[in-house]
Order: sequence, then C-alpha cells, then structure tokens
Amino acid sequence: MTSDGPFEVLDVLYASRLRELIEKYGVTQIYHLAAILSAKGEQHPQQAWDINMRGLFNVLEMARDFNLRLFFPSSIAVFGPTTPRVATPQDTITQPTTVYGISKIAGENWCQYFFLKYGVDVRSVRYPGIIGYQSLPGGGTTDYAVEVFHEAVKGNPYTCFLKADMSLPMLYMDDAIRGTLELMEASPSQIRIRTSYNMAGLSFTPAEVTRAIQQYVPGFTVGYEPDFRQQIAESWPSSIDDSAAREDWGWKPVFDLDYMTRDMLSHLADHYLVKLPGLGR
Ligand code: SER
Repeated sequence: MTSDGPFEVLDVLYASRLRELIEKYGVTQIYHLAAILSAKGEQHPQQAWDINMRGLFNVLEMARDFNLRLFFPSSIAVFGPTTPRVATPQDTITQPTTVYGISKIAGENWCQYFFLKYGVDVRSVRYPGIIGYQSLPGGGTTDYAVEVFHEAVKGNPYTCFLKADMSLPMLYMDDAIRGTLELMEASPSQIRIRTSYNMAGLSFTPAEVTRAIQQYVPGFTVGYEPDFRQQIAESWPSSIDDSAAREDWGWKPVFDLDYMTRDMLSHLADHYLVKLPGLGR
C-alpha cells in the first residue's frame, strides 16, 4: 500500500494475474500505458509487437468481461510519410513505417471493434511527444525534448539526435494528464470517436526549444548528430488538427513553449539541487 493507494507489479502479458488483480481490488477503470515506444520498437520489433498487441488484447478482454472503462494511448506514430504533415486531420491516411505505429493503428481499430461488437467503453487519444520532469524518457523519437532539459539544468551541453529544424507535435505532461482525465470523465454520449482522438499541445523544433531554454540558461549549447530516429521523425506530422477532441469533450491545452520551459527548468532545478539565476532562483 502506498500513500496513494494499493500498488502491484504486473506483467501485462500475464492475463490470469491481471484478472486476479481486477477481482481483488474491484477495478472499474484501466489506463493501459504499458507499451514499447517507437525507437525501442525498431530495435526489438517482435517483442514490441507482442507487448503492444497482446497487452492491449488482455485489457480489452478484461474491459469486456468486467464492464470496465478503458483508456488506450495511441500516438502520432500512426501517421506516416503519406499523411499530410501540417495540421494533420483526424481522418486521414495512416500508413505508419514503425512497428510501434503499426501496433497503435491496429490497436485503435481493435478498440473500435470492441466498442462496436461488445459495447466496451474504450477511449483513446493519439499522444504527441510528451514532455515532463517526472520521469526520464524511454525509447521514443521525441525523447530529445526531455533529455535537453536535464542536460541544460545539469550544466552540460546536449547532443541532439534529430536535426535542428525537425518540427514535431508535443504536449506538456500536466496538459496530457488533465486532458486524459477529462476524456475519461466525459459522458459516453460525448465520445463520438472510438478509434482515437488527435490531441495537440504545441509544436517546436530542437532549435526552438534550445532558444527557449537559453533565455533562462544563457550558456547552454546543443550540437546535432541525427541518427535513425531522424527518419522516424520525418514520417510524422509537424502539427495536428485536434478540433474533434475540442468539440466533443472540450480539449484545450494550457502550456505554450515558454510556460513549459519555465516549469520544466524550475522542477528540474529542484530535483538536481541547482540554482538557475536566469529563472530568478
Ligand atoms: N513519444 C512517442 C515516441 O516517440 C510518440 O508516441 O515514440
């Protein structure tokens, strides 16, 4: 038992244990966040497919059997090089080039299938890159946008694995959590889309976030050594049209680049016990 409630470690591939825990705690909702992200998935394709798909099937089946509300995170990785890159529409071409993206677009359709066939109340958003101070990134193409803040606060230079002008859609963690809870609390009649909603916060390039950080950490420098993740990023949108989420359940992000930068730097300065005079602390 933690201060926030009970805590258990569970392998999402272990369906019988999942069932036991649902029964033990009388679970009514599942936020199914376990998955292998885009860059890691390219290194371990079969494992990524197994975890992302079997994990989803296990929770979909539990949601059906126990009448649970289910959250499934999809991703901008469902889009690909044939998708319109600017203000990517809700309904558009989805021909992803990563294992992760293929698993997410298949997952979206399985979610809709379970809704149509069994009435499972499953809800989903296509997250862009999520930026937060709470945890270190793990295996995504958008990870640079978290790493860059850690290095800036630690007083180190940063080497970015994407090109300086690679614009991608991003979302600050506070907005992501609030928006996800709002989606899950909306009345079922508001949820018109049972595949997955486009969800946007802000878009920026590595050069732009570097400049935003330099406002508060003047000596900070970034070098560029693009690797295989640059190619993944190039297949994704640079900005997202999320009007369906705004209209259906009132989605609206709060954080812009400067607000996000100040919040990230101040929390990480506390974490690393560092003074940042540029931030007034
Ligand atoms: N942040 C994710 C990734 O880079 C996108 O969903 O893989």
